[in-house]
Amino acid sequence: MTTSTITLPDGDPSQGPTRRGFLRKLLSLVCGGLAGLVPAAAGLVTFLDPLHRRSAAGGFVRVASLETLPADGIPRKFAVVSDRRDAWNRFPHVPIGAVYLRRTGAQAVEALNAVCPHAGCFVDYVPIQNGFLCPCHNSRFAADGRLRDSRSPSPRGLDTLEVQVRDGTEIWVRFQNFRAGQAAKIAVA
Ligand code: FES
Repeated sequence: MTTSTITLPDGDPSQGPTRRGFLRKLLSLVCGGLAGLVPAAAGLVTFLDPLHRRSAAGGFVRVASLETLPADGIPRKFAVVSDRRDAWNRFPHVPIGAVYLRRTGAQAVEALNAVCPHAGCFVDYVPIQNGFLCPCHNSRFAADGRLRDSRSPSPRGLDTLEVQVRDGTEIWVRFQNFRAGQAAKIAVA
């Protein structure tokens, strides 16, 4: 760290050492205050760090094994369990949501967020209709998540999620929630 020396003008000698001494003290107070702000700001950033780490949500979570999904494409509901963080706490291995998974091929899986995009209720799969029904305001969705009934109050179909089948058996889902009540699919941070 470099230091600089501040040279005061000599000024009017008649004002004597009293005024120069006062100015030196004032300057040292200002410099000392500024120097103290740096560690204070660093401490504040550290204190708020968990708030920044929250935005790291949305990674892949192992949800199920491929053999648990019926080959005929009927969706099955699974809880998504992962670590959850709020501003300053970490809760390991807790439910953070739910998804419907269905096979679309031997090694292909589709994932839908189980939350209705209208107002956030969980939808139910209705086998006889091969589709989803929201019990809150009767939005209806096809098995692939698309809106089935134009009278449904939901502004969009169920939210699809990114899926990976790893090692031929493990289903991993990039779990994410999206804003309710909007036609656009906008991720919630
Ligand atoms: S919350 Fe699903 S239709 Fe209203």
